[in-house]
Amino acid sequence: MDLKIALLAGDGIGPEVIEQAVKVSDAIATKFNHTLTWTPALTGAAAIDAVGDPYPDETHEVCKAADAVLFGAIGHPRFDNDPSAKVRPEQGLLKMRQKLGLFANVRPTFTFPSLLDKSPLKQERIEGTDLVFLRELTGGIYFGERGRLDGGNTAFDTCTYTREEIQRLAKKGFELAMTRSKKLCCVDKANVLESSRLWRETVQAMEKDYPEVTVSYEFVDAVAMRLVQWPNSYDVLITENLFGDILTDEASVISGSMGLMPSASVGTENALYEPIHGSFPQATGLGIANPLATILSAAMMFEMSFGLVEEGALIRKVVDESLAEGIVTEDLKENGEKGNSTSEVGDYLVSKILG
Ligand code: IPM
Ligand code: MN
Repeated sequence: MDLKIALLAGDGIGPEVIEQAVKVSDAIATKFNHTLTWTPALTGAAAIDAVGDPYPDETHEVCKAADAVLFGAIGHPRFDNDPSAKVRPEQGLLKMRQKLGLFANVRPTFTFPSLLDKSPLKQERIEGTDLVFLRELTGGIYFGERGRLDGGNTAFDTCTYTREEIQRLAKKGFELAMTRSKKLCCVDKANVLESSRLWRETVQAMEKDYPEVTVSYEFVDAVAMRLVQWPNSYDVLITENLFGDILTDEASVISGSMGLMPSASVGTENALYEPIHGSFPQATGLGIANPLATILSAAMMFEMSFGLVEEGALIRKVVDESLAEGIVTEDLKENGEKGNSTSEVGDYLVSKILG
């Protein structure tokens, strides 16, 4: 296949981890006879510095024209410590999600047998955990009306959802559940919020179209609790934007390293793949960033955007091998043992793929 990929390295460790994902993807392309064409484009603080916009129009054009977008990370401390900054890197991410129509954020959490002891949770609680959050990504309180009243002394943010927005996200949830263990959990706060009651009502009405799927409805506070008590009792979970933001961070540490969890953001036309860790500014340029989440995001890209399941599976296999062999960055090493560098991990994976 001839595949065009937009390459958005972004900020912080973004460029370093992206470089490894490109290396690994190119090795996969060589092995399976595909041609990958990468088109780099600016986002985040890097784009603000260059053109004053964290998601410039040129970048949007590159993303629209591509078969998929591979994304590193966004964010810079220079902006975090300046509440008066008019333009922020994160705005680029929100604009990108909205303009590309990426309404469904797919965030899996799974454990690696060789890393069970890295988890903050007891081994017997997390064994077998393999769940997927589908977080709504272009609606809710992130994009609702907001403002100040009362001379700036009162502030408000509103959470709005249409039935259609809920349906399209829930449809993906039901479809994903059908390919897995046919269990779907709708996470809401329907005992308090009207928008949650619309979520519940909408999902309930869709149940008849998927008679094989068992649906549970749980309140977000209870899910936050059960997620650390019995993560392996969940399979597919669907939820609105802010609940999903919070719960997926919680879920991401279950596996033992946030540096390992990939994600996809998909719409009807476009899809973007990114690690769920952030830009990790303290590690920038040190060669210590764990590239595996970005590499596993590339695996999701092969599988979900290109339908190349074998290619994705080979990436997952060599990642498992690097973990088992201990060719890993310092975040996964024991007792202060020196880690392999970011690019050594990438090189190892390439040699395994081509070897
Ligand atoms: C995420 C991030 C973003 C979000 C921020 C950076 C705007 O936390 O992708 O989860 O809140 O969606
Ligand atoms: Mn988040």
